[in-house]
Amino acid sequence: MLKIGHRGARGYEPENTLASFQKALNMQVDGIELDVHLSADGEIIVIHDETIDRTTNGKGFVNALSLRKLKAFRIDGKYDPRHLAELAQQIPTLKEVFDLVNQDCFINIELKSYEVTDKVVALIEKYVTKKGWKYDQFLVSSFDWNALQQVAFLNDKIPIGVLTETDLNLALAFAKFIQAKSIHPHFHLLTKANTAQIQVKGFDVFPWTINELEDIQKIKTFNVNGIITDFPNRI
Ligand code: G3P
Ligand code: CA
Repeated sequence: MLKIGHRGARGYEPENTLASFQKALNMQVDGIELDVHLSADGEIIVIHDETIDRTTNGKGFVNALSLRKLKAFRIDGKYDPRHLAELAQQIPTLKEVFDLVNQDCFINIELKSYEVTDKVVALIEKYVTKKGWKYDQFLVSSFDWNALQQVAFLNDKIPIGVLTETDLNLALAFAKFIQAKSIHPHFHLLTKANTAQIQVKGFDVFPWTINELEDIQKIKTFNVNGIITDFPNRI
């Protein structure tokens, strides 16, 4: 059962920062999950929200700000009162995360906008063809299934995860259609029976975001393929 750190190790460091991903690596994760948006000048930015308001000391939409401007803001201590080490202070780019991870675990990239899709595919292709990474060290997921269809169209070797928080059957049908690797349901949708039904069709099941020990214990009895959690050391 794979241990996948949600936004890094969000339970311990500010989400989607290099410090959070390093913490997850220190906890021996099999994979990390992160979220991406596109900046105004076409850089892939690792951040959950479409604005920087919640997590930094700045304001504005990510897609309206250049990389230089985004880098000038700091992860907000008010958002996260823990001491911010240097690695935790800036919004990272996807390339910076790839270089930090350096093939130590797989990277689940959640596309938060359709616009970022082509750039993410191109960056994965670059790391596979020029830096010796393997396609199975990446897993691209999204609630935007049009974006996933675009990934499959651009490069059918990139593993795809279908995200859903509402309809497991629809996700299963779509996963078959685009030949996805995995289904990523909100964990409340899962039972032992429907987990097995998905797996028998050939898909892995990676539920999110499971943080409480009681929930982790219960989901483990379903024999899911991996668990996405803010607290990787609890798996
Ligand atoms: O990828 C699973 C999970 O991260 C989806 O929800 O809102 O945490 O991005 P969210
Ligand atoms: Ca996410």
